[in-house]
Amino acid sequence: MSDKIGRNDPCWCGSGKKYKKCHEQFDDKIAYIKSQGHIVPDRSIIKTPEQIEKIKESCKINIAVLDYVADNIKAGMSTQDIDDLVSSKTAELGAIAAPLNYEGYPKSVCTSINEVVCHGIPSKDVILREGDIINVDCSTIYKGYFSDSSRMFCIGEVSPEKKKLVDVVKECCEIGLEKVKPWGFLGDMGQAVHEHAVRNGYSVVREIGGHGVGLQFHEDPWVSYVSKAGEEMLMVPGMIFTIEPMVNMGTDKVILNKEDKWTITTADKKPSAQWEIMVLVTEEGAEVLAY
Ligand code: MF3
Ligand code: CO
Repeated sequence: MSDKIGRNDPCWCGSGKKYKKCHEQFDDKIAYIKSQGHIVPDRSIIKTPEQIEKIKESCKINIAVLDYVADNIKAGMSTQDIDDLVSSKTAELGAIAAPLNYEGYPKSVCTSINEVVCHGIPSKDVILREGDIINVDCSTIYKGYFSDSSRMFCIGEVSPEKKKLVDVVKECCEIGLEKVKPWGFLGDMGQAVHEHAVRNGYSVVREIGGHGVGLQFHEDPWVSYVSKAGEEMLMVPGMIFTIEPMVNMGTDKVILNKEDKWTITTADKKPSAQWEIMVLVTEEGAEVLAY
């Protein structure tokens, strides 16, 4: 919030109003909170109303792609078949799958089964079996704007233990969401997520977190789900980020596959689950943009 704008100049948000009648008090409040030793958002990650409208269009497509996967996912199909569903639906809706070629990632979606924590690469050799739990993580670029969300799917009858893990991680996201409001801190959300997982006997992955999103795939802030209330970045209206905890049945320790350099699994090979929602901080609280 360092750029000096004259009080009678047009506001940086693009509203056309004078700065003094628009975001001046907002910027002063953020500067004050920063002076108290807190981490505050840079202006570059605070979205304007026009940007938010465009990001919402991208989110609608991301949701439609996940709905299409939900309607078609079943035992016996390969994770490559899921990739085909995602790439065909995304193209049909005039969008681009963000993962493809992202830092060399070879596919259009991440498919993470059972002990795979995240970034499972679709393959025709990986077949969904009755009893599997799988995270399908979709990210979409539409007219240059990014969206990102993921869901868990239970394939046929799954064990009560795995079903509970899947349900509790969804609850973690919803409980975290309740803590998202302007002038609170990301740690308020992170602590709520962590406590709900621990209360159910699970652990939360520490090394991999969520992120800001919208104008780019991954923006500031990096978002932890083992953080503490009152800590981490200040939340202000116009910020968009993901709530996407990876919750493990056993140890929180994870391992990166050395061959493909993407797939992350639990160190003890016990199951892991993740849901990802994309959230906008509003004047009143929060709005879910993609789920
Ligand atoms: N969708 C993932 C996230 O939530 C990112 C995956 S990066 C990829 O941040 F390249 F693996 F797709
Ligand atoms: Co994400």
